Amino acid sequence: MSGTTVQPVGYACGARVMGIDLSKPVSDDVAGKIRDAWHKHLVLVFPGQRIDPFQLVAFSRHFGELEDYASQPFNRHPDVNEVMVITNKKSNGKPSPTYNAGQNWHTDLSYTIRPAKGTTLHCIEKPSVGGDTMFANMYLAYETLSPKMQAFLDGLEGIHDASLIQGLEKRGPEVAAEYKRLNPPVIHPAVRIHPDTGRKALYVNERVRQFVGLSEAESKPLIKFLCEHSVASRFVYRHYWSVGDVVMWDNRCLTHLAVGDYDPRESRYMIRTSGKGDYLGRLVAAENASPSAQPTTSAKIAEGVAALED
Ligand code: OGA
Ligand code: MN
Repeated sequence: MSGTTVQPVGYACGARVMGIDLSKPVSDDVAGKIRDAWHKHLVLVFPGQRIDPFQLVAFSRHFGELEDYASQPFNRHPDVNEVMVITNKKSNGKPSPTYNAGQNWHTDLSYTIRPAKGTTLHCIEKPSVGGDTMFANMYLAYETLSPKMQAFLDGLEGIHDASLIQGLEKRGPEVAAEYKRLNPPVIHPAVRIHPDTGRKALYVNERVRQFVGLSEAESKPLIKFLCEHSVASRFVYRHYWSVGDVVMWDNRCLTHLAVGDYDPRESRYMIRTSGKGDYLGRLVAAENASPSAQPTTSAKIAEGVAALED
């Protein structure tokens, strides 16, 4: 990447990449170098870009197949199916279904069986102040736990539930109901091994309701502890957006949060692609109904479901 620089902007994660024009085709060689920098820094910021949704798709495809957002059929870009619009701007006089997206700590699409691998977000309009996004390094969150806690979590699975999306109900009863209908609770490991780096990362966030095989009363304090621990300020990079930024993050080893710290009368408009996940979790319901499920697993899931229905 001659003429290209990668400059860390945070200690926990985050680097600024200069010298690449994303409106032009990126060679496989450059894409490979970007991927290496991404694995090292987890969040890459490409400032000063002017790209349309097609160019965003072309760039993101270098890092894998793209998500078609079938389970989030809201605020799709009118011209490009793989692009979602994250905005507080009304369309046809109606509030945007993504106006309050991402306002609790999460990792994209973890409430689906195939959580997004990475996400790329391009800032087209932003409020005069605020509208920041924070990212927490979940490798560090895992690595700073005691060995006993790590060993315990290595064997745990979490139930991720779309109904825990912050502010979902405020998007309107129809949007909320459709979201939940399309995204029933799913199970993912509490610790994931990153397929490219081999490092373990905590995969627990504020959209986890319970651990499989633990009661709700046992799960809740542990989830609370892990959520608080994982977003300690020393693990976090806070991105202050500028128009033209393209930010690409890795959902397998980060959680992130839309801070929502801005005047809602001002416009914020971002376009987004997500990479299709490289791993499949399981539906709570399917697992529970499956006759081939191991009795122990089945019993554990049933316990989880019963508690969910409390
Ligand atoms: C997202 C997201 C954060 C933001 O697009 O997945 O969480 O600040 N966005 O808009
Ligand atoms: Mn998100």
